[in-house]
Amino acid sequence: MAADPYAWIEQSLATIEACNWYRSVQTINGHPGPTVLLEGQEVINFASNDYLGLAGDERLIAAATTAIQEFGTGSTGSRLLSGHRELHRQLELAIASFKQTEDALVFSSGYLANLGTITALAGKRDLILADRYNHSSLKNGAILSGATIIEYPHCHLPTLKNELQRQRHNYRRCLIITDSVFSMDGDLCPLPALLDLAEAFSCMLLVDEAHATGVLGQTGAGCVEHFGCTGRRLIQIGTLSKALGSLGGYVAGSTALIDFLRNRAPTWIYTTALSPADTAAALAAINIVRKEPHRRQQLWENVNYLKKSIQQYCPELKLLPSESPILCLQFADAKEVLNVGQKLKSAGIFAPAIRPPTVPTSRIRLSVMATHQKVHLEKLIQSLHGIKDNFSFQANKKTTPHHGEV
Ligand SMILES: Cc1ncc(COP(=O)(O)O)c(C=O)c1O
Repeated sequence: MAADPYAWIEQSLATIEACNWYRSVQTINGHPGPTVLLEGQEVINFASNDYLGLAGDERLIAAATTAIQEFGTGSTGSRLLSGHRELHRQLELAIASFKQTEDALVFSSGYLANLGTITALAGKRDLILADRYNHSSLKNGAILSGATIIEYPHCHLPTLKNELQRQRHNYRRCLIITDSVFSMDGDLCPLPALLDLAEAFSCMLLVDEAHATGVLGQTGAGCVEHFGCTGRRLIQIGTLSKALGSLGGYVAGSTALIDFLRNRAPTWIYTTALSPADTAAALAAINIVRKEPHRRQQLWENVNYLKKSIQQYCPELKLLPSESPILCLQFADAKEVLNVGQKLKSAGIFAPAIRPPTVPTSRIRLSVMATHQKVHLEKLIQSLHGIKDNFSFQANKKTTPHHGEV
């Protein structure tokens, strides 16, 4: 009999398990928030991207419910065929106004926004320069485009400049792609310097604002605003699923760029339009983010309090450099970090262990929310303090390059 062509799948799973890289889902019940029911146990939630606590906000729920009543549950087709609703355009105009760009386009997810935009902008004759720590959607968008890809070491501008000097002239177009807030590290890309290099070498620059929108900048418009780069020529991608508490993705930029993507981005053209409920919830969220800056202020108070407390009470812990609500504690290896995650869970703290191949070194990833109360943060510190003596915290066994969020 011929060999089983599917047998390799089980063998591969066994290898994944043996490396402690095996992943599975955990069920959460009830509303999203700073505490959640995780498989029946009430835990303090440090695993959510709902930075401003909007995913369970009554106003988003009301907007989504009204949209379902008015338009039904599904968009029934792609935007260019039967899927387009006025609501989509309202959301796009709201994003463009928030980001101070000429226009915007919404996709069904941030992942699809990256795949569609990168494949539309670059092809076989082009060069993509990419930060090594970029999110999986940027990495896969680059691969799918067929362009030549050069990864530069994380945020390392001298290497980027060197590659531009050596390679730029060999290619028709060049696209630099980077996360603005690195999703598994929490640090920021050096945006002003990247923009200067892009301008000097006639490159397009695409930044993924997934973890920055609603969080960074005076009005919450993101890292571009944070660095005072509003109005400079670049392509901004983002998601509606993190601080904006809904689902979907977007691209913001010039009128010509958006018009071009409507004609050339396959993950926008050949997929069903964002559902009315998600669209309405995201629109409500943008209005709230703009009107309620105190949410962002509270978020940053929480971030600063937690950082200070970790440094003060758990100085042995290795906190990776961060300028965002994503705080990562590095551990020796996958086995150890899984053990820490389990211990934290037993103490009532939900903080995911992130392991290779998602990241090069194993870490506990804490994401802070505006709706965390001081008691939640104190409980986390106590729990970390309680377990810290059992672990080495000495990390740095490099494995594979990381692919962004799990
Ligand atoms: C940096 C980054 N880009 C893109 C995405 C994808 O966004 P979405 O969840 O909307 O697909 C994520 C996370 O999911 C992310 O962390």
